[in-house]
Amino acid sequence: MAERRKLIAGNWKMNGLKADGLELASDLAGRLKGAGAVAFDMLVCPPFPLLFPVGEAIADSPLALGGQDCAAKLSGAHTGDISPQMLKDAGCGFVILGHSERRQDHGETDAVVKAKAEAAIGQGLVAIVCVGETEAQREAGQADAVVGAQVAGSLPAGANAATVVIAYEPVWAIGTGKTATPADVAAMHGFIRAELAKVLGDADKVRILYGGSVKPGNAAELMATADVDGALVGGASLKADDFWAIGTSCR
Ligand code: 13P
Repeated sequence: MAERRKLIAGNWKMNGLKADGLELASDLAGRLKGAGAVAFDMLVCPPFPLLFPVGEAIADSPLALGGQDCAAKLSGAHTGDISPQMLKDAGCGFVILGHSERRQDHGETDAVVKAKAEAAIGQGLVAIVCVGETEAQREAGQADAVVGAQVAGSLPAGANAATVVIAYEPVWAIGTGKTATPADVAAMHGFIRAELAKVLGDADKVRILYGGSVKPGNAAELMATADVDGALVGGASLKADDFWAIGTSCR
């Protein structure tokens, strides 16, 4: 089986002002530097205005930086959009794409996510492509069909384990305190890996993160679940102690 190093990613969403972001990121960067060898990579994805200050504050640490979205274009007349080139310039190595909140609030389709991923990868960013079913879809027995279509529709041609990470985030588990059971997570991650194998040559090396109410109390069990290669964490990534505890739960 391929060795897949765990990735613990914090999606700050629309939270935090400059002082909060600097304090949180500097705290985590200091812990990472002090910890020496750890069993996980750690990533923070602050809101756009904080990328430059946070990037500068963590530049000499192993803590990675990512954006929460980007445009499919590199520059031009696109008011309010942020290009992958700008993320790269701010020190980002990653970008979250197709989060369910973007799909819901901004009408992002698989085709839009795919175009963004292609542009991001073209700039040397790793695209964290989010997929996940709603509660109604799961109850109707459509979870696999929905997630399978998202995987197939959102990945650009030529993507591979070095350029893409998948985040499975069941919509009903985001910010609700409800978590999918380890058995459900294992089944879905196995299904996603099988779907990836249809389109990528190195599907066994692709990291598949779980997201949805990951907390220090459930992280160890989830991170030990088959085919789970890390976590995409919302609420608990805003507290250094909680986020660090999720990281150190990785074995
Ligand atoms: P919560 O961890 O707050 O449920 O959010 C998950 C998420 O959406 C991460 O992208």
